[in-house]
Amino acid sequence: MKKVKFLFHSLRNFQEMGTVVRSGGPMCRKMTQFIDKKNDLIIMELGAGDGAITSHILNKMSPDAKLFVFEINPELCEVVGRIQDDRLILINDGAQHMEKYMQKYNISQVDTIISAIPFLVLPEELTNEILQLSRNVLKTGGQFVQMHYSKSLEKKYKSIFGNLQSYFVTFNIPPGYVFRSVKE
Ligand SMILES: C[S@@+](CC[C@H](N)C(=O)[O-])C[C@H]1O[C@@H](n2cnc3c(N)ncnc32)[C@H](O)[C@@H]1O
Repeated sequence: MKKVKFLFHSLRNFQEMGTVVRSGGPMCRKMTQFIDKKNDLIIMELGAGDGAITSHILNKMSPDAKLFVFEINPELCEVVGRIQDDRLILINDGAQHMEKYMQKYNISQVDTIISAIPFLVLPEELTNEILQLSRNVLKTGGQFVQMHYSKSLEKKYKSIFGNLQSYFVTFNIPPGYVFRSVKE
């Protein structure tokens, strides 16, 4: 998707998008750096936008892995849906409904969650619900990876997961943070 089209969607739906730029290469690479090809067989991506990070995840995943992608915007889903890959299961619904889809696809737990949901602009209740659910569905040792352009929610991730590693991605435009927590 062209940058200008992403900008158009962002301006129209700022309360859901939380940014006016899609993730650049450096951010996508950092977000997917921790994927363990051998052991991460069930991966969830929350807030895929037009799929900037999605393709990086697919490139790093095992041929036997599955990627469940949640995106609420139907037009952006249409763009992600153009990716031809049998491992990708695209869900045009909110991440808060992840358990429903886990039941549907017979998944008991998730190995890795990669999220770009703009929790800073979402209602706090919804943010807490998605984060708590994410923790619940992860296997022990599974990881939750989140990007932001500010450090405001660091404490929240630490309180929900009990641990947090933060990384500053200098060369992204704009520069941003990647937060990683592991389910203990
Ligand atoms: C900042 S954009 C990130 C897009 C892309 N992953 C990237 O990094 O360029 C955040 C995306 O999260 C989606 N989103 C917001 N709330 C959501 C929710 N509850 N469940 C799933 N996706 C959501 C928005 O529609 C938007 O496309």
